[in-house]
Amino acid sequence: MIQGHSYERLLEISKRVNWRVEDIIGPDKPMDFSKPFMPESFARTAELDFLGAAERLKLNQIRGFGYLAMFELVERCILPAIEAHVPSKPGQDPHRSAALQNFAAEEAKHIELFVQFRKAFAEGFDVPCAVIGPAEDIGAMIRSHGKLAVALFVLAIEWATQQHWLESVQDEEGLDPQFKSLLKHHWMEESQHAKLDALVFYELAEKAGPDGVMQAVDEFLQIGAFIDSGLGEQVKLDLAALESVIGRRLTEAQRVRFLGQQHQAQRWTFLGSALVNQGFLKALGEVSPAGRARLEEVAPIFC
Ligand SMILES: [Fe+2]
Ligand SMILES: [Fe+2]
Repeated sequence: MIQGHSYERLLEISKRVNWRVEDIIGPDKPMDFSKPFMPESFARTAELDFLGAAERLKLNQIRGFGYLAMFELVERCILPAIEAHVPSKPGQDPHRSAALQNFAAEEAKHIELFVQFRKAFAEGFDVPCAVIGPAEDIGAMIRSHGKLAVALFVLAIEWATQQHWLESVQDEEGLDPQFKSLLKHHWMEESQHAKLDALVFYELAEKAGPDGVMQAVDEFLQIGAFIDSGLGEQVKLDLAALESVIGRRLTEAQRVRFLGQQHQAQRWTFLGSALVNQGFLKALGEVSPAGRARLEEVAPIFC
């Protein structure tokens, strides 16, 4: 047991939380397209003063689509890595394999939830929205890094998801309740994931030793840079969707501003908020104070 968490206890909590996709999304639970989906701290549409209020609302919803589509993509990318950790060795915790198997099953369920969300969004929004991919290629690139670097990446994402709900979404009034409910249910299961990830991360970090952890931190930053370039591509897709839905092309100067400003907003959403997450930094700092310091040094670029 590490830090008061055990595989047995986390599995037990997770079984209690367990919800079904069909109970939280479906024709009887429509999204309200008159409301924003994302908190402004992530969408950052207010700075785009060349857009009217109704246009900024459309952009907010495009970002909401992209947010869950990106989680679907990331979870597709990391699922094989989680599954690879399931088999346990003699002497390891007797509940380890069952807890990790359950973790993988929950991520598979989340992917299904996000697929259903994309369908529901497509039915309610006036134009199609696109997302970067394919997940197979992006996942293969991420998983080409060492196991410890991938585990660190998974840990960062899981912590960020949790904090997004707790600090930015939960108390934000005026957001579409159905979109909020999806984030809440995702968070309910992600809170166990972040703790399970930490257990796996500690196992691997112990084996790798201090130099191995620093190597993983470097590779983690390479994964971050790769994701960041993908986010840059996503912003172009978001611009195309926005121009299509508002029925006008922005001027060249406005487009340049949009791409730079929204790329930074995406950076904060998916990378910066993870890099400053105290739970994530604490977990890393416990095995490598130097690794934590390295991430704290680069974090401002992503905020
Ligand atoms: Fe998930
Ligand atoms: Fe997760």
